[in-house]
Amino acid sequence: MTTSDRPTVYVETYGCQMNASDAELMLGRLAECGYVAVGRPERADVILVNTCAIRDRAEQRVLGRLGELKRHMGRDAILGVTGCMGQRLGPALLARAAHVSLVVGPDGYRSLPELIDRARSGARATATTFDPDEHYRGIVPRRADGVRAWITVQRGCDYHCTYCIVPTTRGTERSRPFADVIAEARAVAEQGTTEIILLGQTVNSYAADGYDFADLLRAVGAVPGIRRVRFTSPHPNDFSERVIAAMAETPAVCEHVHLPMQSGSTRTLRRMRRRYTRDGYLACADRLRRAIPGLALTTDIIVGFPGETDEDFAETLDAVEQIGFDDAYTFKFSPRDGTPATRFPASDTIPEPVVSDRLERLIATVRRGSRERHLRLLGSRHEVLVERRARRGGAVMARTRDFKTVLLDGDASMLGRYHTVALTGTTGSTFTGVIVAPHGLAGTRTLPLAPAAAAG
Ligand code: SAH
Ligand code: SF4
Ligand code: F3S
Repeated sequence: MTTSDRPTVYVETYGCQMNASDAELMLGRLAECGYVAVGRPERADVILVNTCAIRDRAEQRVLGRLGELKRHMGRDAILGVTGCMGQRLGPALLARAAHVSLVVGPDGYRSLPELIDRARSGARATATTFDPDEHYRGIVPRRADGVRAWITVQRGCDYHCTYCIVPTTRGTERSRPFADVIAEARAVAEQGTTEIILLGQTVNSYAADGYDFADLLRAVGAVPGIRRVRFTSPHPNDFSERVIAAMAETPAVCEHVHLPMQSGSTRTLRRMRRRYTRDGYLACADRLRRAIPGLALTTDIIVGFPGETDEDFAETLDAVEQIGFDDAYTFKFSPRDGTPATRFPASDTIPEPVVSDRLERLIATVRRGSRERHLRLLGSRHEVLVERRARRGGAVMARTRDFKTVLLDGDASMLGRYHTVALTGTTGSTFTGVIVAPHGLAGTRTLPLAPAAAAG
């Protein structure tokens, strides 16, 4: 053991918010067994690299990092790989990297302490069996952020889009018991957290104990002290009228939806097996905007999907312009082993220079649109929640309800507080602002259970 008689653990997380939320569960599980979290691998008895498999680049990065860690880790330290790449590669990872002792998939974190103990006595192990009942009930996540809390409400995915590895790495879709989600929301609110982000791969298809996502939004929005509710990622097909009504009628639900489009071409969407058409997506965006005034829309788009023609791509550009996204995450298609998209004929593969050109044009189109929208917002007033210190000294990063980033002069004492700001400048993507009215501490703080409240 290094610094004290309690073992130390360092977790490094890649990939999406669900993985970050899982890291909090792992740390919670290990804390039950006496582990102390540390911020650097050099000092850790146990190093966990919590991985992503969504694109090849994500995996290459992890492989490089595992090589680096080999040089930095202590002689007796245990190195484990968790998360989606661990699930995907399993024993192959152990074979490939002799300094890795354990590989644990997203449903195996409950047994982490035992696996680590066994690794200490020399047993290398893989734990990648799916457990469709695993919701990590009873484990209290060790949250890194006291201002916002990510709450996983659904694990796995049943959609099977042809490009996507997630159903392979996270198994079938299952929704967490309704009462457990509400209990967790209450617990974080009692600690002083005022914003909750509900997580699931198709989060708005949530269904458990006779409740749907509309019920969940209303119930989480009604938890005393919760002032903002967000969710990611919804699927366009799961926006029922009930869900949209719940969003519109629940004051805490923020005016922002991240609505992955993937492509603006019906032909490509079919080949992706997204289960909606271009018109279906446009209609969904329209229904949301009509129900929720001032709604910001962001999206995910893939370019260079097998067989994507110039016309298909032009339709994507056209949809981006027509919808006017506030922002978009854009990706080059990355073939994932075993997914249906790898079985299109080789002649469907889009040459790399074409893919790069499309990505550049797409990014330029997204930027132009969001810049125009953002310039129009200059001078307007918004409620912001201060989330963290900015990289620049003497500044903090805050967010509006519609998910705009605003830099303000200030210090750590402002974290977790709400203010009204006027937007004074924009880089095109983020804003600078000045406070025009402080709102003080958020929400109604109800009976803090833990005195060491995390809001700061
Ligand atoms: N469940 C979410 C997406 C999770 S993955 C949803 O369906 O909306 C996040 C994003 O990664 C996807 O929206 C997609 O744009 C991108 N992505 C997934 N698989 C990919 C692949 N094989 N190549 C490139 N991008 C991919
Ligand atoms: Fe992947 Fe599609 Fe499921 Fe999203 S909905 S996780 S893109 S299979
Ligand atoms: Fe990556 Fe797994 Fe998330 S593949 S994007 S970490 S669900």
